[in-house]
Amino acid sequence: MAFRVACLTLGALAVGDAFVVPLAAKQAGGLVRSTTARTRSSTTVGRRGGVSMAAVEEPWFDEAKANVLLDLDELERASDMTLSSDKPKKSVGDLTSEDLKGKRVLVRCDLNVPLDGSTITDDTRIRASIPTVKFLVDKGAKVLLSSHLGRPKDGPEDKFSLAPVSERLTKLLGKKVTMAPDCIGPEVASLVDDMKNGGVLLLENVRFYKEETKNDSDFAKKLAANADLFVNDAFGTAHRAHGSTEGVTKYLSPSVAGFLLQKELDYLQGAVAEPKRPFAAVVGGSKVSSKIGVIDSMLNKVDMLVIGGGMVFTFLKARGLSVGSSLVEDDKLDLARELEKTAASKGVEIILPTDVVLADAFSADANTQVASVDAIPDGWMGLDNGPDSTSLIQGKLADCKTVIWNGPMGVFEYEAFAKFGVGENLGAAPGKGWLTIIGGGKSVGAVEKAGLADKMSHISTGGGASLELLEGKVLPGVAALDPKD
Ligand SMILES: *[C@@H]1O[C@H](CO)[C@@H](O)[C@H](O)[C@H]1NC(C)=O
Repeated sequence: MAFRVACLTLGALAVGDAFVVPLAAKQAGGLVRSTTARTRSSTTVGRRGGVSMAAVEEPWFDEAKANVLLDLDELERASDMTLSSDKPKKSVGDLTSEDLKGKRVLVRCDLNVPLDGSTITDDTRIRASIPTVKFLVDKGAKVLLSSHLGRPKDGPEDKFSLAPVSERLTKLLGKKVTMAPDCIGPEVASLVDDMKNGGVLLLENVRFYKEETKNDSDFAKKLAANADLFVNDAFGTAHRAHGSTEGVTKYLSPSVAGFLLQKELDYLQGAVAEPKRPFAAVVGGSKVSSKIGVIDSMLNKVDMLVIGGGMVFTFLKARGLSVGSSLVEDDKLDLARELEKTAASKGVEIILPTDVVLADAFSADANTQVASVDAIPDGWMGLDNGPDSTSLIQGKLADCKTVIWNGPMGVFEYEAFAKFGVGENLGAAPGKGWLTIIGGGKSVGAVEKAGLADKMSHISTGGGASLELLEGKVLPGVAALDPKD
């Protein structure tokens, strides 16, 4: 019990994969006493390494004031990203029956679901794609779905076929979804020729062609050749300029946003562009270097920045404290000082833990203790926030109306913990009028398993894309779409 709570607590400090072990030690009871006090109030869910999202049902988190709480991760920064305007994009909802009836509509979805062999282990992304597909079907369009799946290395591989997805789509739509043997070429063309209005064809994995990720224009042309217009509903790959996300927009008109993409933009951009204040960002992760983009961007927007995760120790050391054997990026101490200075000049309050839970080893039987951050003994490493830090952060966030959660705060490698936390704590929140946003991968799986997906305001399907939006970047897959009339 207590272990779970320790992980779920706001300040849980995940430094990296190695933290799985010490946290397992907690599960075994090592930290029961230091964390029990938080049992009643902790409800946040996060996970390091890929995804996470959180919602809170905290006594300190005033539901009437709470606006948005989101937790994202999977840092995939694209340095070539250009900043440009983020004018509203034309949406599939702007298209009428007249625009769509009998038209061949290429829809880029994110159907990149986890598979165990040919069994789909989490169909969240497929279900998230349904509203756009259904809308098009109902309007009498001929719907060509395209997606990538996994990372095929060189050409087609059975294990990355979208065939299992076509079966699931068929079930979810209650309508036969035909699986195409390819995504381009004469076979696809003849299948498209045979389509009836309202028919749905799933094209095979676009990444069976290397040209896809290279944004090759001939490939994009071939992909576009079977369609009249384009709908991008693949938020998870919107931060990539690929043939099927950006390339095809050059050959199809109009190119519009699908409902899912639109919703992601509304939540993730809207929350940041016009936050209800006070606005706090909670940023976690092991490395300052990988979070610099989001911290920089947030410093221009928030009133308060809570720093969590392993990078805490780089900040503490930069403040001149001794951090024992905790993870530190020694070459980022100056950067940490810079960031603190910038924050001060912008009037942004930086909140670091005041006490931490220490372990003497990365092992299941490590000894643990709680210590003030100015009294970390040599040979001990920080793994988690101490109880004082947690109450401090709780108190600070209590007044916030918008909280953006970015990056791993705790270790949720073990599904059991994520599921537990979500199940017990997230379910009640939306009923109270909060906006709960769940983002990406494993935490989505956890919410699904707990049967709570329907209760969330928004489940983000993007990791890297979400993060880039929060960093203030424009996603090329979005930028390429037609503006609203
Ligand atoms: C992607 O390819 C299209 C042509 O198919 C081109 O117009 C566009 O500029 C390319 N995008 C990038 C980022 O290279």
